[in-house]
Amino acid sequence: MAVGIFDSGLGGLTILDAVQARLPEVDFVYLADSANAPYGVRTADDIYDLTVAATQRLFDAGCDLVILACNTASAAALRRMQEGWVPSDKRVLGVFVPLIEALTERQWGDNSPPREVATKHVALFATPATVATRAFQRELAFRAIGVDVEAQACGGVVDAIEDGDFILAEAMVRSHVDALKRKMPTPEAAILGCTHYPLMQDTFQDALGADVQVFSQAGLVADSLADYLGRHPDKIGSGTAAFLTTGDPKTVSTRATQFLRREIRFEAA
Ligand code: DGL
Repeated sequence: MAVGIFDSGLGGLTILDAVQARLPEVDFVYLADSANAPYGVRTADDIYDLTVAATQRLFDAGCDLVILACNTASAAALRRMQEGWVPSDKRVLGVFVPLIEALTERQWGDNSPPREVATKHVALFATPATVATRAFQRELAFRAIGVDVEAQACGGVVDAIEDGDFILAEAMVRSHVDALKRKMPTPEAAILGCTHYPLMQDTFQDALGADVQVFSQAGLVADSLADYLGRHPDKIGSGTAAFLTTGDPKTVSTRATQFLRREIRFEAA
């Protein structure tokens, strides 16, 4: 009984950790496309092809439901996959939806006209590819009016995290927050729109200041998945728990163990 979780690299472990805590009875197959990370500097076509291949690998591992625990794949590939590729007996879900639900205080299926929400000035931190799609602003505009979103493409942060270089990652986060503040001096809320960024959440919060509400996806996705599986228990596939990577299993296992502070053993995908 397993659900698939996909990320270009190790960022999706922040989601995995939260969903495992929320759903201890469910097994997960985690796939990190480490050989091709980062996705955030790739073209949309490239991200689509890589995400399709990774999702197919998780279907082959017995997962009927795959969570794209990657905003870049969710923004650049998910809609195209859902419209023309995902087989009718499988489901692929992204990580944007729960975030927008939380920000706009409404449910995804709520198709009523957009309405005013309390938070007016929102900073979005994401990879260059996610920012380029404008997917977040588009989805938000369907649901909320009068919200000013300033996006900051955070080049380099994912590479530094994947390399385990947290000193560099911290310096980069601070410089991206400075750049954002030059465009939007007083954001009320900040969205960490990349699953790697919760690993740097304290730095984001410190650089933004205590008054800024920082939304991170892990807990929100965990609640959403629990709700979804409660309604669709048949979507828990037949696979068994595993950690798969397209990169070097030894290096990836060492980094993952460091991130989650528990032993994680990856095997070749
Ligand atoms: N963790 C991913 C995301 O949420 C992508 C990182 C990357 O490969 O650039 O966007």
